[in-house]
Amino acid sequence: MRTLEWEKTTQRLKMVDQRLLPSTFSYIYLESYQEVSESIRDMAVRGAPAIGVAAAYGMVLAALHSEVSSYDLILQDLDQAARILEASRPTAVNLPWALKRMLLVAKEQSHSSDSLFDALLLEAEAMADEDVETNKTLSTFGAELINDGDMIIHHCNTGALATVDWGTALGVIRMAHEQGKKIHILVDETRPRLQGARLTAWELSQYNIPYDIITDNSAGHFLRSGKVNKVIFGADRVACNGDVANKIGSYMLALAANANNVPVYSVFPFSTIDIELASGNLIPIEERPQDEVLDLKLKGLKVTPQDASARNPAFDVTPHELITAFITEKGVIYPPFEKNLIDKMQGN
Ligand code: MRU
Repeated sequence: MRTLEWEKTTQRLKMVDQRLLPSTFSYIYLESYQEVSESIRDMAVRGAPAIGVAAAYGMVLAALHSEVSSYDLILQDLDQAARILEASRPTAVNLPWALKRMLLVAKEQSHSSDSLFDALLLEAEAMADEDVETNKTLSTFGAELINDGDMIIHHCNTGALATVDWGTALGVIRMAHEQGKKIHILVDETRPRLQGARLTAWELSQYNIPYDIITDNSAGHFLRSGKVNKVIFGADRVACNGDVANKIGSYMLALAANANNVPVYSVFPFSTIDIELASGNLIPIEERPQDEVLDLKLKGLKVTPQDASARNPAFDVTPHELITAFITEKGVIYPPFEKNLIDKMQGN
């Protein structure tokens, strides 16, 4: 199963509707780049690699439905589509990364509008395939760090649902499990959208990997117990110095892990590195609608006062000093991150 894929017969983008899981497994079918943008904003599709590839298919739809015929005018339409898709969510760098790649392909089509759609579809399909390959490669590197008997805290959802397939941090866990290692996962609920309790727990059930869901605020308690061996999460944008923006709560988790000498691993493909940003302080942090925090109900009753207000940052930045290593498709990378990331980029 792929989280998202191009449906050739109807020329639409088909994707799992993650808003309804785990109660309902269903697909939505998107016919325009505006619909793709809305599906990213509303988190029908989420997870940095998945939204990057979704945006790439959004560009394919923009080319398909462009109402102009000259190459130069279609390019203008594509630029406009890229701007709208990029604005859907600001933090994950995979979104601008994928859009730049698609625009480059469009601009290489030597002024022929005939080949544009085919070239863009080919590039989006290549990106989707690469995503799965990359995740399997980085998972193989990561699984070497996982020991038989490990208890691991995982934050948010970084599995097949957050990517085209297989996953990053959850991909590492899945690979270690397939290698026969007996591991147990403590799944952070991940307030307010509950990607852990809803999506990661659902995926772990499918893979028969033992887990318990924990409330986000109990992670410190488990880390202090001495029974947790590793903390593992993904990344939405990594600055050159190794600071990592990831789902809100990652920073607190890394702080508690460091205070208890538990190693922290951030898992991501190289497309999540923003070479233009010197440090995590420069990463744009999405603030989502306060309803996501306030619409909580317990036993059918609204929890918060009618006039309550809330803040809802969707991501935080974990400074590189709190991270033990990065797990990437180019191998496991240890500090000093700035130097070692550049070395790996240059193929050393
Ligand atoms: O808001 P989300 O659900 O899109 O946030 C997702 C995360 O923070 C993931 O950890 C990150 O994108 C890595 S997914 C492989």
